[in-house]
Amino acid sequence: MRTPIIAGNWKLNKTIHEAVALIASLRCMVDGVSNVEIVVAPVFTALATSAEALAGGNIRLAAQDVFWEDNGAFTGEVSPRMLKDVGCDYVIIGHSERRQYFGETNENVNCKVKASHAHGLIPIICTGESLEQREAGRTEAVVKDHLLNGIAGLSAAQIISTVIAYEPVWAIGTGRNATPDQAQEVHALIRSLISDIYSDDVALKVRIQYGGSVKPDNAGALLAQPDVDGALVGTASWDAESFAQIIKAADNAF
Ligand code: PGA
Repeated sequence: MRTPIIAGNWKLNKTIHEAVALIASLRCMVDGVSNVEIVVAPVFTALATSAEALAGGNIRLAAQDVFWEDNGAFTGEVSPRMLKDVGCDYVIIGHSERRQYFGETNENVNCKVKASHAHGLIPIICTGESLEQREAGRTEAVVKDHLLNGIAGLSAAQIISTVIAYEPVWAIGTGRNATPDQAQEVHALIRSLISDIYSDDVALKVRIQYGGSVKPDNAGALLAQPDVDGALVGTASWDAESFAQIIKAADNAF
């Protein structure tokens, strides 16, 4: 049985003060939820204070990116060791916005994933096709490319403690989510690709999140799909009420 995981990607939003306020509201709303892993990913500058605000509760902390070296002359970067030090358990890697605006490659993603595992951080690896790629019938090829290059070299134990996110780029921030069938089709593909490399047994343990315009009113149907093990939520996670509703939908679905 895979524990569902709902993660909120705050992107470039929330000052320290705003992060603390959002966490305080959210904690009250999801206090009793014990069957869902809940994660929030504030900006780097709010991580330390967010860790304090989350202490003793059922919500875990993620960063939105990481670099692969431990330390050194890499101006502007933050290492996995530093993320562990500040209290992160998870890190989002290879989000489409990083691939699109910051030139992130599959090779970068793989270095970040390996470095995160080396420091006990759970990577959430993002995959997903653009609209153009979907319309050209390339969804499977693109997701396969993101996935296989992103997880290259991981042991079975490491892949089991890796979260894969399927986030079609055309669904991110657009209000146009993938249908439950579209999501299920790609999630099943991801699981079968993992099974081909490792085994059925390993693939059945890996959690695959859907992301892209997940809202309170569509979360239940998406999460009801057999291979959808959670959600990576952007916009709807910036508001405590809507994020809490998605978390409760997950709590009911599993
Ligand atoms: P969205 O973002 O929920 O606003 O579509 C999802 C994401 O980018 O992770």
